[in-house]
Amino acid sequence: MIKICVIGLGYVGLPVALSLSGKFNIIGFDTNKKRIENLKKNHDSNGEFSKKDFLKKKINFTFKRGEIKDCNFYIICLPTPVDKKKIPNLNPLMSSLKILAKKIKKKDIIVLESTVYPGLTKIFSDKLSKLSGLQNNFDFFTCYSPERINPGDKSKKLSRIDKIFATNSSNKDILKKIRSVYKLISKNIIFSKYIPEAETAKAIENTQRDLNIALFNELLILSDKMKLNFNEVIRLASTKWNFIKFKPGLVGGHCLPVDPYYLSHIASKKNYKMEVALAGRSVNNSMKKYVIKKFNTFVDNKLTMKNKSILVVGLSYKYGVSDLRNSLNLEIFNEIKKRFPKTKFYDPFVSKNKEFKTNFLDSLELVIFLSEGKMFKKLFMKIKNKKNVNILDPFKYYEHI
Ligand SMILES: NC(=O)c1ccc[n+]([C@@H]2O[C@H](COP(=O)([O-])OP(=O)(O)OC[C@H]3O[C@@H](n4cnc5c(N)ncnc54)[C@H](O)[C@@H]3O)[C@@H](O)[C@H]2O)c1
Repeated sequence: MIKICVIGLGYVGLPVALSLSGKFNIIGFDTNKKRIENLKKNHDSNGEFSKKDFLKKKINFTFKRGEIKDCNFYIICLPTPVDKKKIPNLNPLMSSLKILAKKIKKKDIIVLESTVYPGLTKIFSDKLSKLSGLQNNFDFFTCYSPERINPGDKSKKLSRIDKIFATNSSNKDILKKIRSVYKLISKNIIFSKYIPEAETAKAIENTQRDLNIALFNELLILSDKMKLNFNEVIRLASTKWNFIKFKPGLVGGHCLPVDPYYLSHIASKKNYKMEVALAGRSVNNSMKKYVIKKFNTFVDNKLTMKNKSILVVGLSYKYGVSDLRNSLNLEIFNEIKKRFPKTKFYDPFVSKNKEFKTNFLDSLELVIFLSEGKMFKKLFMKIKNKKNVNILDPFKYYEHI
């Protein structure tokens, strides 16, 4: 009988655990005690799942290593951030080795879902072999299945996201077990025998997106300097069959600002300096300065700021999520608040205030839009004709409405 342990119950691990429960016996392990206490009460503080999503799900949530018993299928969904020098911080991932080394037995399956650099799954399984005295691909089986979940995007449910699954094993019994588990996670699994290729594929997906957004951010800056209508430039260019349209904006979170560094890190170990992969990073990071400069110019030229306040719209790194990690929006809000302490924010995914009273809107002198989404558009529609409320839309999300 398959008994699964999901290690790390964040944006990735919780949906994985929820998809599998019901059919399999599941232990959900996370070192964050508060997170476990909340999950036991069917509360997801990340705001991705409501209480009813936990109904009929049986997961044994725990922060105690001792409670991980009799498992034979481990799914690792631990964070893979970078440190201050942008070097991969593998501590969370490597700390799971200590747990696994004591628990794994013959025929156990271990799947890494965390984003890693090419070659890291092998480093991981070599270390596990050494610590456990068991042999990878003979006694236990380490696989790699990168996660592509898009938090905040309800249109892309986990089961509808095509999933890569890489394993070196051709053991029929092991492949059968993998299929029986992973078919509950995704309707379409793309198998590969090449783990480093799967690791690279994941890292380049996010690197490509980071670069594309950076190009659009650069075009936005150029349009601004040349007083061009940015949206018209893009509308015209989009009429060409092979032009790919992206949106400019603030880039944050746990993936895009991190994954290009995982790639460049391993490249530098091979004495190769990646130029293009990292080229988007500085432009995307510079958008914070761009917005603050626009804000300061606007305030200095246009506002009276007499007892009136500023509202910053969009605090998390993107619309629809509560995740404040690497959020340039939050950094911008904090800068503005330093200058104007009465500044407030609106982000219903971060805090609970969802509706505005008319007198609150009337008391505003400036609303600055940092993200794009349905509820923010609704707010824009409410204020766009209010004479006394100024609007700053640095990424031109709403100007055409
Ligand atoms: N968030 C996303 O949108 C997303 C999408 C695709 C891939 N990924 C990748 O998936 C991985 C996980 O990301 P995430 O966003 O779910 O991270 P997260 O921070 O939301 O969740 C990680 C969880 O692991 C727990 N944890 C940390 N150290 C631990 C340890 N030693 N033992 C047990 N639990 C521990 C944390 O408490 C946290 O709850 C990362 O590699 C990330 O790059 C994330």
